[in-house]
Amino acid sequence: MWMKTPSLVEKIQKLKREKRAVILAHNYQRPEVQDIADFVGDSLELSLCAAQTDAKVIVFCGVKFMAETAAILNPDKLVLLPDKNAWCPMAAMLPAEVVRFYRDRYPKARMVLYINSLAEAKAYCDAVCTSANSAEIINRMDSDTVLFGPDSNLAKYAQNFTEKRVIPIPSCGFCPVHKLFNTEAISRLKRAQPDAEVMAHPECEPEVWRIADFVGSTSKMCREALVSDAEKFIVATEVGLLYRMKKERKDASFIPAYDDAICSAMKLHTLEKVYLSLKHERYPVKLSPKIMALARKPVEFMLKTKETTA
Ligand code: 13P
Ligand code: SF4
Repeated sequence: MWMKTPSLVEKIQKLKREKRAVILAHNYQRPEVQDIADFVGDSLELSLCAAQTDAKVIVFCGVKFMAETAAILNPDKLVLLPDKNAWCPMAAMLPAEVVRFYRDRYPKARMVLYINSLAEAKAYCDAVCTSANSAEIINRMDSDTVLFGPDSNLAKYAQNFTEKRVIPIPSCGFCPVHKLFNTEAISRLKRAQPDAEVMAHPECEPEVWRIADFVGSTSKMCREALVSDAEKFIVATEVGLLYRMKKERKDASFIPAYDDAICSAMKLHTLEKVYLSLKHERYPVKLSPKIMALARKPVEFMLKTKETTA
């Protein structure tokens, strides 16, 4: 009897059921990976999802710090990263030794770390935040000075929403992808499409988010596109987000502010690797019990904070 060969998608779905696994994908993932995922979102939503899931296995299609956060919240679950080389270069800009150096230098200051940081660095901070809740978290700190890293642009952005003094650590941490946007190119696009709404991620340089009509996390940009009257959007973030935006607002057009704004780490996960990850349970996120326990407190502090501004 002729039997149809199962497709990769069918094989992934079968393994997912057998292993009681959930697939979480960041908004920058490849379209086919977004389509197979149980949930697609920004860093905050993915952390909340990881905290609430009753799945036994979490396949995390994102960068390493995201999978580590899921593991920190789920010490008894198996968290898998389909490609072990998917790590965020910005997170590596703030090693734990530098965190401890700043702790000693500013003993009275509190420290908030962007979720795009190493687990070993998170272990020594007071609270974690994402691009969706940086100001809320900073405002909850019981000190006038807050050390914030590794993204210096997000530190500058959050400074607009707080009376506290925000000190970026290190002074020039940045995302290489969001560094690619510039005001000249965006203004040129805007001149060609005067009725387009400009959206930017707070990881962009300040001069970029200053000329944007809307600034927010990746999912906040998606929500803005759904409620906005605009029919055209110029989007200053990693191009992967445009797939979700187009899917959710089919009547609108989305123009990348820079065509080559591609995060190569995010693109490492493919359907094939998701399948192999489930099949061979690779690559498990491994952190020391001490780091997991220390980093859990600042991550949980964030999850208890209601998000209001970007
Ligand atoms: P979001 O939390 O806004 O999705 O951002 C994550 C990220 O890595 C942006 O570069
Ligand atoms: Fe890191 Fe930038 Fe890639 Fe986000 S887009 S994961 S901050 S390198």
